[in-house]
Amino acid sequence: MRLDGQTAIITGGASGLGAATAARLAAAGCRVAVLDINQAAAEARGKELGGMGLACDVAVAASAEAAVVAVQQRFGPPRILVNCAGVGTAGRIVGRDGPLRLDAFERVIRINLIGSFNLLRLCAAAMVETEALEDGERGVIVNTASIAAYEGQVGQAAYAASKGGVVGMTLPAARELAKFGVRVVTIAPGLFHTPMVEGLPPETQASLGAGIPFPPRLGRPDEYAALVEHIATNRFLNGEVIRLDGALRMPPR
Ligand SMILES: NC(=O)c1ccc[n+]([C@@H]2O[C@H](COP(=O)([O-])OP(=O)(O)OC[C@H]3O[C@@H](n4cnc5c(N)ncnc54)[C@H](O)[C@@H]3O)[C@@H](O)[C@H]2O)c1
Repeated sequence: MRLDGQTAIITGGASGLGAATAARLAAAGCRVAVLDINQAAAEARGKELGGMGLACDVAVAASAEAAVVAVQQRFGPPRILVNCAGVGTAGRIVGRDGPLRLDAFERVIRINLIGSFNLLRLCAAAMVETEALEDGERGVIVNTASIAAYEGQVGQAAYAASKGGVVGMTLPAARELAKFGVRVVTIAPGLFHTPMVEGLPPETQASLGAGIPFPPRLGRPDEYAALVEHIATNRFLNGEVIRLDGALRMPPR
C-alpha cells in the first residue's frame, strides 16, 4: 500500500527495532502510534516523530484494547501493525536452582506470542472495517519472530517456543485474513545492534558480529525497518516468514 497518511501502530516502538521502524514509517508519511510498556519512552518517541505514544502492555487484553481505541480516535483505523514488543529472557530448563520456574516460561510466551496475537486480533478487526484500497487491500501486519524459532540455543527454550509460535501463526492468519485484503508477514531477525545487545561488553558484541557470514557485523535497526517498509508497500508478499540475518545459523550455545 502507499504509506503516505496511513495510520501505523508499532508495539515496542520505544526502543531498538521498533523505534527504528517508527522513525522509518513516519519518514514515509505514516501517522505513527508508538505503543510500549515504557510509557515515558513511548510518549517521547511518538512526539518526536509527530505521532503519538502511549503505554500498552501487549500481554494484557484490556491494555491493548484501550490503546487501539485511543489510536483510532486520534488517527483513524490502523492500516499497518508492526509487532516488535518482546523480551529475550533466557533460562535453562534445569539450572543450578532446579527446574526453570513455570511462570518464567509463561511470561516469555505471554509477551512474545500472546502479545503479538493480541495486537494482531485487534488491529485485524479494525482493518476489516476500513474501505478497500488498490487490489482490495485493507491492511498489513508484520510480526517479529527470531532465528531462534529455528535454531534456539541452550537457555532459549521459552524464547524459541514463543518465536516458533509467531512463525506458526503467520500462514493461518494470512489465509484467514486474505478475504479481507489484510496481509500477514513475519520477519525472523538474526543478531541486531539494539539495547538488548548494547548491554554486552564491546568485545562480546564484536565477536557476535564476526560470527555472521556477510556482512560480518550486527544488523542495524534501520535494515530491519527497511524490510518492514518494503513488506508494507509490496502487496504480493504475504503469509511468509523472512529471515534477516546475514546467513547466520546459530550454534547450540
Ligand atoms: N535485537 C536482536 O538481535 C533481535 C533478534 C531477533 C529477534 N528480536 C526481536 O525483535 C523485537 C524487538 O527487539 P529489540 O532488540 O528491539 O529489543 P528492545 O529491548 O530494544 O525493545 C523491545 C521493546 O519492547 C518493549 N516491551 C517489552 N515488553 C512489553 C510489553 N509487555 N508490552 C509492550 N511493550 C513491551 C520494551 O519496553 C522495549 O521498548 C523483540 O520481539 C525481539 O525478540 C530481536
